[in-house]
Amino acid sequence: MKMIRPLPLLLAATLAAAAVPPPVADTPPAAEAGQRAPHRHKPQPHRLPTFRGPARFGDPLPGLTAAQKDAFTAGMDEFKNVETPETGLGPIFNNVSCVACHSAPAVGGSSVETVTRFGHTAGGIFDPLADLGGSLLQNKAINPDALEVVPPEANVRTRRQSTPLFGLGLIEAIPDETIRRGAARAAHDGIAGHAALVTDVPTGEARVGRFGWKAQQATLLAFAGDAYRNEMGITNRFFPTENAPNGDAAKLAKWDKISDPEDQTDPATGRGDTDTAADFMRLLGAPPQKPATPAAISGAGFFRQIGCDGCHTPVLTTGRSDNPALNLQTVPLFSDLLLHDMGALGDGIAQADAGPREFRTAPLWGLRASAPYLHDGRAPTIDAAIRAHDGEAANPRDRYLRLREQQRRQLLEFLGTI
Ligand code: HEC
Ligand code: HEC
Repeated sequence: MKMIRPLPLLLAATLAAAAVPPPVADTPPAAEAGQRAPHRHKPQPHRLPTFRGPARFGDPLPGLTAAQKDAFTAGMDEFKNVETPETGLGPIFNNVSCVACHSAPAVGGSSVETVTRFGHTAGGIFDPLADLGGSLLQNKAINPDALEVVPPEANVRTRRQSTPLFGLGLIEAIPDETIRRGAARAAHDGIAGHAALVTDVPTGEARVGRFGWKAQQATLLAFAGDAYRNEMGITNRFFPTENAPNGDAAKLAKWDKISDPEDQTDPATGRGDTDTAADFMRLLGAPPQKPATPAAISGAGFFRQIGCDGCHTPVLTTGRSDNPALNLQTVPLFSDLLLHDMGALGDGIAQADAGPREFRTAPLWGLRASAPYLHDGRAPTIDAAIRAHDGEAANPRDRYLRLREQQRRQLLEFLGTI
């Protein structure tokens, strides 16, 4: 019987094992080179990485204890919980539950839901218009009187696509130092990323941001607290101040009837819904991989040859953790988690440590289940997302455009398996 091995990961690990960035040809790879590439990168069975993917999207990390499985289930319940004005929803908000925007193809995934960011740019300086309710718009309210709108002062307005949350516990467990090391590599091929330096609100520590399109948060607890307050209007001990509709304190006083923080902690454990939802995300398994086809194996070779791995680093490794499921694990995320200047893709919004044209390299694992693509969901297909690359990614993009039709198809087939 033929053994089915998770070849994309093997290739990924082999590519990642190279100590120096691969030399990148100026000319498009010839068809023969494409056929040879997989043999050159053929993985050795004894170098198998320890990563074990779950069977399905939405499964927990493999190997959890009974107590961890309980925490995952309780966390998923909280993630699906529908908030109401009585439980603290609003006065202004974007949706009523986490799952409302993170549902496809399973609880914790992405969705076609977007949120709106706005601000004002003058002389190259971005102002998030915080006093007028920016930069995140809350487009719903518990009463029409409280509704927030994009103020006339805004001259920048953009959408943000919901991202999938599969495997985020593994990404959280990657040490800051590992991400910084990626940035310390000498600039090559026009690429020079930097680690996002952010303050982690729950601990007050300076950390390397890795979550969100702008790498604006470093930990899942911080992101959960931020999302409870800013997407649902549920204040919590990390983000205790309610958003006033377009900054109007009188309107807030009129409609905010529940005392803050609305996410109450259990006196016995010191934990609240924010912590429970973070448990779910931390224990949510990585996207499952598909077995590689010969075309996908060739495509993996092109991915490297044209320099996509200059930012989409195939594999990073977690640090030591008390949780064996997160301890020293191989994470085939296909991202360096660094911020890069993406030129024309820029959305004009400066956020946390990211400038108006900068984005975190989007992880590519699970790509086949997260259409549409790019920060604003403008790309209906993976091909369209690649063609829209610009700025630091201009060279690899141009090489992609110069690939033969069949080579591009193989590359896309590869991206559909990881
Ligand atoms: C109104 C839709 C909406 C709701 C409700 C929502 N999210 Fe999100 N979520 C988004 C969008 C949009 C992004 C991308 C935000 C960005 O980076 O600007 C996102 C990103 C995230 C990320 C970062 C993922 C990554 O890839 O780095 C996490 C974590 C997250 N959400 C958790 C939550 C949790 C927990 C809740 C419930 C408390 C929640 N979200 C509720 C829309 C939503
Ligand atoms: C300079 C760094 C860099 C290089 C090189 C690069 N990318 Fe990206 N990639 C990014 C960033 C940053 C994003 C997110 C951009 C955005 O959303 O506007 C992204 C997004 C993507 C997406 C969409 C992901 C999603 O979830 O929406 C795909 C697909 C992708 N890249 C594939 C590729 C391929 C294939 C190559 C090689 C031709 C490549 N990238 C080269 C940085 C890079």
